[in-house]
Amino acid sequence: MPRIVTLTLNPALDVSTAVEQVIDTRKLRCDTALRHPGGGGINVARVIERLGGDCMAVYLAGGPFGEELRRLVEAENVRGQCIEIAGETRESFSVYEKSTGRQFRFVLPGPTLAEAEWQRCIARLDAFGPPPSYLVLSGSLPPGVPDDIYARLAGSARQKGTRVVLDTSGPALRSALDAGVFLVKPSLGELRELTGRPLANETEWKEAALAIVHAGQARAVVLTLGGLGALLVSERAVLRAPALSVPVASAIGAGDSFLGALVWALDHDAPLEEAFRYGLAAACASLLNAGTELCKKEDIERLYRDIVIG
Ligand SMILES: Nc1ncnc2c1ncn2[C@@H]1O[C@H](COP(=O)(O)OP(=O)(O)OP(=O)(O)O)[C@@H](O)[C@H]1O
Ligand SMILES: [Mg+2]
Repeated sequence: MPRIVTLTLNPALDVSTAVEQVIDTRKLRCDTALRHPGGGGINVARVIERLGGDCMAVYLAGGPFGEELRRLVEAENVRGQCIEIAGETRESFSVYEKSTGRQFRFVLPGPTLAEAEWQRCIARLDAFGPPPSYLVLSGSLPPGVPDDIYARLAGSARQKGTRVVLDTSGPALRSALDAGVFLVKPSLGELRELTGRPLANETEWKEAALAIVHAGQARAVVLTLGGLGALLVSERAVLRAPALSVPVASAIGAGDSFLGALVWALDHDAPLEEAFRYGLAAACASLLNAGTELCKKEDIERLYRDIVIG
């Protein structure tokens, strides 16, 4: 059985392309499209696979895009367990505007799940034996799934000694934190929504993250700050890392790359601080590649050496 399991309840077939300029009404002749299997947990598994980790992606898929998604997961040599659903897997479409470097991202809601479908998913995860060392719950919930599904999964995983790593938003984030996880990776926007506070400066970011740790909701908080880098807060450490300056071809999946490398390093018994550094290097490495291509192992290793943590 794999040591790391990722779950993607609402995956997507990611289609990305580029165009000189985005203008309304006109036909925009785009470059050849890149297609990748996407959704938080699948992206995390893609990164762990590239690093040589022992990982399995559990995901739900249906319809023709679901078929294509499954084919692309296999093409990346990601070990996958697909749970068939009646609805159709969504597509996500992103366009890089070459004249400005701006990225436009179109994200659809995903198919509505029947209760039997998400129950089957819970049962599948419960059946893993021996239980994995890490369970990564990443991404949004599709319509039809109860807000507390991550909380339920986190509760039962913890009882089996599995460390839960969480990356989601809104009510799903709040309820899973109430259940308690090992590590949570909010972006600043997600942390602001969670706390209901503007969190205007670094002192407030640290306080908000520490409050999560002190409440026993997570042993560690990794707050990702886009171009400003990231912050690691645990009972033992508060570390602030600025982002490396690299040419940004695409910021899509930077957070997923961060999480993939971080969990891979933790699973190799790296201390949290070192895993945080791997995460930063992978996030930065993913910026170098267009669309949803994510990061390359050699870039992660090269950039890892450049990271300075204060
Ligand atoms: N423009 C950028 N320049 C440099 N580094 C960046 C940039 N954007 C992202 N990063 C790196 O990638 C990491 C993760 O990115 P980000 O904070 O956007 O997380 P995210 O989870 O992808 O966000 P969201 O969930 O809101 O899309 C950051 O901590 C940072 O290290
Ligand atoms: Mg994110």
